[in-house]
Amino acid sequence: MNNNDTVLIHGGKLVGQGVDGCVHNPPVYSCNFNKYMNNKYVSKLQFYSIYYLNELNASNLIKYKYYNNYKNHFSIILHKCKLNFDQINQMSLYDKHTCSFFSDFKINNKYKSDTLFTISIYKYVVGFPLKEFFDFNKTTLFFKNDTFQYLQIAISNFFYLQISIHMINYNINLVHNDLHYYNIIVDTDNNNLPIIIDFGRSFVVNLDDHNNYYKFLSYFDKFSFKPERTWDSFEIRFIYYILKYNLFSSFYNHKDYNNIPNFLKNKKYIDNFIDIIVTYDFNYYKNISNNKFDFNKIIIMYKKFLRDFLYKFSDTKLFPSINDVIFYIYSNFVLYSIDSYSIIFNFLDFYLSNYYHLSKIDVLHNIFIKYLFVNINPIINFKFMYKTHFNFFKYIYKFFKSDKFIKNQTYLYFEQNMFQYFHNNNVNTYYFIENDIFKSIYDSKTNFVQFFDSFSFYY
Ligand SMILES: Nc1ncnc2c1ncn2[C@@H]1O[C@H](COP(=O)(O)OP(=O)(O)O)[C@@H](O)[C@H]1O
Ligand SMILES: [Mg+2]
Repeated sequence: MNNNDTVLIHGGKLVGQGVDGCVHNPPVYSCNFNKYMNNKYVSKLQFYSIYYLNELNASNLIKYKYYNNYKNHFSIILHKCKLNFDQINQMSLYDKHTCSFFSDFKINNKYKSDTLFTISIYKYVVGFPLKEFFDFNKTTLFFKNDTFQYLQIAISNFFYLQISIHMINYNINLVHNDLHYYNIIVDTDNNNLPIIIDFGRSFVVNLDDHNNYYKFLSYFDKFSFKPERTWDSFEIRFIYYILKYNLFSSFYNHKDYNNIPNFLKNKKYIDNFIDIIVTYDFNYYKNISNNKFDFNKIIIMYKKFLRDFLYKFSDTKLFPSINDVIFYIYSNFVLYSIDSYSIIFNFLDFYLSNYYHLSKIDVLHNIFIKYLFVNINPIINFKFMYKTHFNFFKYIYKFFKSDKFIKNQTYLYFEQNMFQYFHNNNVNTYYFIENDIFKSIYDSKTNFVQFFDSFSFYY
């Protein structure tokens, strides 16, 4: 047996470890999937659990909808098998010690010989997790210190991820629900474009089937959503808050939801929630940005849109019970907000935590930060969604280069065109104006054009 064969049987390097799984490249050898036993694939060994079932369901939906056209966006289960503990144990050449998840449960006697595990095969994405990609000092070396190119790729990744989430949210009603930095990998074999992995927490929104709703509610038992978790969308944190709120914790059992009167009629509960959110979010934002960015205006804006979004739930005529509030949020917002919030949150993190570096190479970085903060708004017609982000920047770029603008370069003319554009796209300009976005873009028009001139559009 040569060296290579040994690697295949053992499973290669441990390339990742999550809550309940070990990821190896090449895959651990099992289930007779010879075709995948090479370094182009990884295996994930995990418990047979809800995470696996969610992932399998998402993989099937994506494959069914997109055939082969998903591969540059998602890494999903290509093949899988189920094994019990004894069968896994018999894979005697497999180095169990490198996978702490496996050795942990060996020590723990509660696992019986019939405990089930799954091995799933995915394409191996060569590259870095988004978190590492956002690490300025590390990544710019990869781009041979071409920081401008680095920034452009970061922004293309933002636009690209908007297309990816549109593919699942809009076309298959699937919410990924866990788009943190380590579940997005920048694929160095595909123009440094991002691939989304790990659909373990995903769910489908289906208003015709109440089971989907109860499954969504059950997540609030399983996962530790908390209002302080800055990386969860406002809607998710709000549902957590009203389900778990001190006084109401006894209601935290979904069989009883229907009967709980809507206690939000007392707006102090909503105000209290907003205080928690604003405190935690801005402590976080201030901390990562080293207080270099001025958040005052943004905090005012943030409070206002949260009030506008949430106060309507205090109306007990429209929402007699707490369940009416939650079901309304589930039916109208959850699908469009969770993943898009995560993407915006990740990029705010990138801009703010690299504030010092980016301000040296990019005069537009303040605009991008303000733009992202406006678009984190939970109210849908006050923001851009999915492809409209990209279209908005493309529109302005083309406008600045157009003959009509070259002939009439006044702010007034620019602003009129902006209003028209927003009107045509059914987007309300309120927060864009409050946050000086139009003015700032106009003032940096030369840099704006320059930046997007050298932009490579892959799509
Ligand atoms: N297809 C893949 N290509 C490259 N690395 C991967 C792949 N899938 C998973 N990984 C690595 O393994 C880690 C854990 O995998 P993931 O699917 O996110 O499992 P978990 O549900 O345990 O978080 C990831 O963060 C990533 O570093
Ligand atoms: Mg993960």
